[in-house]
Amino acid sequence: MHPILIAPSLLSADFVNLERDVKRCEQAGADILHVDVMDGTFVPNITIGPPVVAALRRVTDLPLDCHLMIQNPENHIAAFAEAGADWISLHVEACTHLHRTLSVIKEYGKKAGVVLNPLTPLDYAYQAAEYCDFILLMSVNPGFGGQQFINSFLRRCSELRTFLDTHGLAHIPIEVDGGVKKENARAIIEAGASILVSGSGVFSGNLADNIYAIKNA
Ligand code: DX5
Ligand code: ZN
Repeated sequence: MHPILIAPSLLSADFVNLERDVKRCEQAGADILHVDVMDGTFVPNITIGPPVVAALRRVTDLPLDCHLMIQNPENHIAAFAEAGADWISLHVEACTHLHRTLSVIKEYGKKAGVVLNPLTPLDYAYQAAEYCDFILLMSVNPGFGGQQFINSFLRRCSELRTFLDTHGLAHIPIEVDGGVKKENARAIIEAGASILVSGSGVFSGNLADNIYAIKNA
C-alpha cells in the first residue's frame, strides 16, 4: 500500500507571500509542494518558471513536484532540475520523445512522471509506466485552479491501478490533480490514487483543517 501524500498546489497560494504559505503548508502536514508550470501554449495560462522554483528551494526542504504544462518539455528539464525540482512530470500530449525525456530526468537524479489529460487514452500510461516513478492523472483540464473534478477520473484511476498491480509495477503511485477536496478525497483514494494535489481545496478556508481532512479521508 502506498502512503497517502498531500501536495498543496501553490497556484492557489498568495504569490506575494509564497514563503509564508509554504511554511503554513509545512506546519499543516503537507508532504510535497506541487508547482504548476504553464507556458501559454500547451495550456492557455502562464504561471511560473525555474527562478521561482529556485526561490522555493531556498525556503523549504519539502519535495518540489514540478508539473510541466509546457510544450516541448525536453528543452527545459535541465533548468528545472538545476533550480531544485525533486519530481518532474511532463504531459504525454506535449512530449514527442517520452522515453528519452524521462531518462534525462532520471539522469539528474529526480523522480520522473508522465501526466495524462482527462481523456487521453490510458495506453500512454501503460507504455510509459515502467520508466516512471509516478503517474499523474488529471481530473480537470490543465490550465487553471478551482475547476470542477471530472468524474471519469475515478474509473480511469481504478483501471490504471489494476494494470500497475498486475504487471509488476505495484510500487508506482498514482497522483491526482484537479478539483480534489475533502468531500471527494475518500472516493479518489478508494480508486487507487495516493498522491493528492489540491489547490483551492486546501487554500480556501482553514488550510490545516483542509489538509488534515484530505489526508485522513
Ligand atoms: C491545473 C493544475 C492544478 C491546479 C489544481 O492545471 O495542474 O495543479 O492548481 O487546483 P485545484 O485543486 O483548485 O483544482
Ligand atoms: Zn498541477
